[in-house]
Parts: sequence; structure tokens; C-alpha cells
Amino acid sequence: MNELDSLVSSAREAFAQATTPAELENAKAQFLGKSGRLTELMKGMAQLSPEDKKTRGAAINVAKQAVEALLTARRQALADAELERQLKAEALDVTLPGRQQGRGGLHPVSLTLERIEGIFGSMGFDVADGPEIETDWFNFTALNTPEDHPARSMHDTFYVEGGTLEAPNLLRTHTSPMQVRYAVQHVKKYRHLIDAGQAMPEIRVIAPGRTYRVDSDATHSPMFHQCEGLWIGENVSFKDLKVVFTDFCKTFFESEDLVLRFRPSFFPFTEPSAEIDIQFQSGPLAGRWLEVSGAGQVHPNVVRNMGLDPERFIGFAFGMGPDRLTMLRYGVNDLRLFFDGDIRFLSQFR
Ligand code: DAH
Repeated sequence: MNELDSLVSSAREAFAQATTPAELENAKAQFLGKSGRLTELMKGMAQLSPEDKKTRGAAINVAKQAVEALLTARRQALADAELERQLKAEALDVTLPGRQQGRGGLHPVSLTLERIEGIFGSMGFDVADGPEIETDWFNFTALNTPEDHPARSMHDTFYVEGGTLEAPNLLRTHTSPMQVRYAVQHVKKYRHLIDAGQAMPEIRVIAPGRTYRVDSDATHSPMFHQCEGLWIGENVSFKDLKVVFTDFCKTFFESEDLVLRFRPSFFPFTEPSAEIDIQFQSGPLAGRWLEVSGAGQVHPNVVRNMGLDPERFIGFAFGMGPDRLTMLRYGVNDLRLFFDGDIRFLSQFR
């Protein structure tokens, strides 16, 4: 192989080894650049005779054209490969099924709250909403809870900074403060009737919402839900509580086969007080007494804090746990599952 042939074949090899345009331009410089091998050969012709210059020049030109052709071919090959790579990366398979937006659903506890609101709504109860950051007054004092009651300690209640006696200073430990908040507004509206000795529209309300306590295990979460109920009038009795609550439970659990038990208990804001237990007669929980709510006749001091005369107005209240009702309804045994936010668990309730 003569010198020029071997130059062309080493250019072919160098171009083939270049895998990027930049590498290819470097390889090109070795042959066609200012001090490239072909350029050097041209310069070397200066001393030749005119005759030799002609033949030598023609031969070098052939070699140069061959190298240029190789270069162009390699450039094209690299460009083609790059285009191919891009097309592959952006490939769109139009035969794939469409991507669906994950469809959300209501949280199981929200489903329970909706159910509770629907059932009590149909019995003429208003639905009220109140602040989760409460004052000491509404959360405890107005509810006849004494200064030294354990619920008022730091062990049981989350206090927030900067609270004064008047200003909100704690995360409400129950929804019971809504009894007084709602009643005060109601009484304000109907003061003229009350003072004139006329009939006041009865207070009939439920107040569902989030509540907070320093507590955490399989059946307690620092944040949980409660739903308060209040019915106050001139002639509301414990019998009404029994009727309303029994009706509620049967509708909620879609079962006529349900027995309720009112077990004597104590709460500062009711007298007498009771715990309400239910018992299913069939199904997986049959035969067990399950506590679902606290209840009682509203204490005269609380009626007074509502702005009403306890000699004239009387009624009952209850406070139940929607989380627990949800666990019973769906057979869930760990409360924490509701608040972990695991979509695999939550999506079962859609
Ligand atoms: N607030 C009570 C609690 O958190 C529950 C309760 C009991 C509410 C009796 C009431 C009631 O309205 O009458 O444990």
C-alpha cells in the first residue's frame, strides 16, 4: 500500500472511531487541518520539479477528496444516529391506554360525619361548626368543670402559647364548648321572646368536628373527632334523648336489631349523666356492649351560662365519637389507620 492509500485508510479508521461530532472534528484536523497530514504533504511539494508537482499534486488531490468524502459520510452517519436516538427517546406509543387521573373519595370518617349530619338533619337538628382553638372559658369553665379537674392539666390538654383567660389558649378537648357557643347565639336571637314569656324555638343542634388530647395508642389519637348534640326547650326530657339516640343508632347502623343501654356515669356538665352503650344482636360484634357516647341532662349551671333560666329551660346533650362509630361500622380495629393517610387503606371506603 502506498503512502497516500495508507493515509486514506488511517483517516477512515480515525473517523470511524469518532462517536461524537466534536471527536470527528478533532480527527478531521489531523488530516485536513493547518498542520494536518495532507496539508503537510502539499507543503512538501515545493521542492519538486514542475513535472513531478503535476503528478504528485494530482495524487494528493485524489487522496484529499477521498478523505473529505469519508468525513462527509461519517458526519452524516453521526447526525443520523443522533436523530434516531432523539426519535426513540420521544417515542409515543399511541396504542397505549390513556393515563387516568386518580379519582379521590371521601375519608371514611368524613363519610360517617355526613351520615350523622344527614340523620340528625332529618330529625330537625341544625349543624354547627366552631373553633378548634378554644378559650378556657368555653372548653371548661362554662361547662361547669372545676379548676382542679384533671382534664385541665397539661398532661391531658394541648395548650397554645400566648393565651389569656379571654383569648383562645388551648386545642379543644371535646366539642362540648359548642353547646354554650351555639346556645348563646340562639338565645341572643330570641331574647325578646324569652323575656316576654313567649315560646322560644327549641335549641336543636349537632356540632361535629376535630378535637385534641394528649393521648396516643391503638384506640386513641391526639387528634380525633367528636360530635356534640344539644336539645334544649321547656319540656325536653331524658325520654326524648332515648328516642332520638335509639333512632339515630338504628339508622346509622342500618339495623333494627340493636339494643341500647344507658349506664350511669359522671360529667361535670350534665346531671344526671350516662354512657350510652349499644349491642348488636347479630353480626361479628353480636353480644358485646360497645360504648358510643356520653350523654346527660344539661347541668343547671351550664343552662345558666347559655343565658337561660334553668327553672324554665331544660334539655339534654350528648357527645359521641365518629371515629369509633366508623370503626364499628366497617370493622376496623386500629384507629391510627384512619390518620396514617395510606391510600391502600383509604381507597377501600370509596
Ligand atoms: N364531652 C364529653 C367527652 O369528651 C362527652 C360528653 C358527655 C358530651 C356527656 C356531652 C355529654 O354532651 O352530655 O368525653
